[in-house]
Amino acid sequence: MSSPVPISQLSNSFKQASLSPKKEVSTSPTSSYLDTALRSRALTLNRPKKALKPFSTGDIKMLILENINQTALSTFHKKGYQVEFYKTSLPEEELIEKIKDVHVIGIRSKTKLTANVLKHAKNLIAIGCFCIGTNQVDLEYAGEHGIAVFNSPFCNSRSVAEMTLAEIIFLSRQMGDRSMEMHQGVWNKKSAKCWEVRGKTLGIVGYGHIGSQLSVLTESLGMHVLYYDILSLMSLGNSEQVSTLDELLSNSDFVTLHVPETPETKNMISTPQLAQMKDGAYLLNNCRGSVVDIPALVEALKLGKLAGAALDVYPAEPRKNGPDFQDGLFPEIEQLKTLKNVILTPHIGGSTEEAQSAIGIEVSHTLSNYINEGTSTGAVNFPEVALRGLDWDQKNAVRVLYIHQNVPGVLKTVNQILSDHNIEKQFSDSRGNVAYLMTDISDVNLDDIKNIYEKLEGTPFRIITRILY
Ligand SMILES: NC(=O)c1ccc[n+]([C@@H]2O[C@H](COP(=O)([O-])OP(=O)(O)OC[C@H]3O[C@@H](n4cnc5c(N)ncnc54)[C@H](O)[C@@H]3O)[C@@H](O)[C@H]2O)c1
Repeated sequence: MSSPVPISQLSNSFKQASLSPKKEVSTSPTSSYLDTALRSRALTLNRPKKALKPFSTGDIKMLILENINQTALSTFHKKGYQVEFYKTSLPEEELIEKIKDVHVIGIRSKTKLTANVLKHAKNLIAIGCFCIGTNQVDLEYAGEHGIAVFNSPFCNSRSVAEMTLAEIIFLSRQMGDRSMEMHQGVWNKKSAKCWEVRGKTLGIVGYGHIGSQLSVLTESLGMHVLYYDILSLMSLGNSEQVSTLDELLSNSDFVTLHVPETPETKNMISTPQLAQMKDGAYLLNNCRGSVVDIPALVEALKLGKLAGAALDVYPAEPRKNGPDFQDGLFPEIEQLKTLKNVILTPHIGGSTEEAQSAIGIEVSHTLSNYINEGTSTGAVNFPEVALRGLDWDQKNAVRVLYIHQNVPGVLKTVNQILSDHNIEKQFSDSRGNVAYLMTDISDVNLDDIKNIYEKLEGTPFRIITRILY
C-alpha cells in the first residue's frame, strides 16, 4: 500500500485538476434536436470551405470587456483579430473613446451600450453579449445601424438541470434543514417524512432546453416524468406529455418550472394551482421570479399543503452581492426565510465554470462566423441570414454582404451592380426597417471587388457594405 499523501498536497492536486485545460464544453445536447437552424448548419460543416477575409476593413479590432472567458480570447487570437482586453467594464467616457474605431465589442451585463455610446462607434459591425440577457444594449438603435447583437441563451441549461436534480433530492430528504441545524450545533437524526425519489412522479412545466435535460437525468433515478408545454414536443426517454397544467399538478409529487417570462406565465402558479397539487408535494422554481405568486406559496407552505419548496429566482433581486437581500425587496422573503424545508439560492442555477466557458466558446464562434462568413444566425436584433460556405477551390469567388434599409427597389439596384458576374447564390431577409442581403458571386478580380464595393457604398439605401474574399 502506498504511504498516505499529506492533505496540503492533495489540495494542490485538486486545484491543478480543476485548472487543467479541459476539452471544449458542449452546449445543450437537446439543442441539436430542438433547433432546426443549427441542424441544417451542421450539415454544411464537413464540406471543405474557403477561408474568407474581410475586404477594406483592415485588421479586425475588438474591444473585450468584463473579464470574458479565456475560451473566447483564444478563439479571437487564433483568428488573428486585434484584441484589447479589460477585466472590468469601462466608465462611459472611456468607453466612448475606445468604441470609436473598433469593429466588435464583447461585453457581459455591466456595460451599458446605449444609443449615446453607440453613436460614436463608426466601424462597429457586431456586439457579443457573453451572457444570457441583452437588455444592457439598445437593440433597436444597434439594429437600425446594421450592428448585429449576439448572445448565448442556452449554454447553462445543463447547469440548471443538474441543480434542479440536486434540489429534488435535497427537498425529499430535508437536507437543507439538517445542514442548517448541524451548522447551529443541533444533531437531529430522523427519517419521518424523508423519502427516496425513486418511483415518485416529477412534473416538468416547460419542456425546453432545461426541462428536457432534467427529464433524462431524473428518469435515470427511477422517477416517472410528466411534462406540460404549450408546444407538442417529442418526449426524451419515457416521459409523457400531458395536455393540461392541472393534469400535471394533480399527478406530480414534485413540480418544477422551466418556462420563459411571458404575460401567460406571470403568476402561473398561484392559489388555485397550488390547491390542485397533491398534499405534501414540492414546488421548485428555477426559471423566473414572476412565475410563482410568492404570497400564495408562503400560505401553502404554512398550511402544510406543500412539504417544501426551492427557489432560485425572485420577483425582485439585488443588483450586487452582499447582505441586502432582506432589505425590503419584497415583503414575503422574511416569511420564506423562517419556513421549514425551503431552499433559497441567489439565482445561481446557471452559474458554473462550465457554463461560462461554453458561453465564451459559443459567442466567440458566432462572432467570428459573422465577421468571416457574414452568417447572422442567432442575432437577436437583426435579420438572420446564412449561406453555405464558398467551396475551397472557388478562387475568384467573393461574398458580398449588404445591410440596407428595407425599402422597395434595393435588390434591383444591387443586382444591376453585380450583373457582370455570375451570382452563385443569394439570400435576403428583413427585420423591421433593416434588411440583410448576402450574395456569392464568381469571376471577380481584386479591381472588380474595389469597384463593386464603391458602387454599393454609393447607393442611397446602404447601411453597411462588407465584402469577403
Ligand atoms: N436560474 C437560472 O440561473 C436560469 C438559467 C438559465 C435559464 N433560466 C430560465 O429558465 C427558463 C427556461 O429556460 P430554457 O432554456 O429551458 O428555455 P426554452 O425556451 O428552451 O424552453 C422553455 C419551454 O417553455 C415552453 N413554454 C412557454 N410558455 C409556456 C407556457 N405558458 N406553458 C407551458 N410551457 C410554456 C416553451 O414552449 C419551451 O418549450 C427561462 O425562463 C430562463 O430564463 C434560469
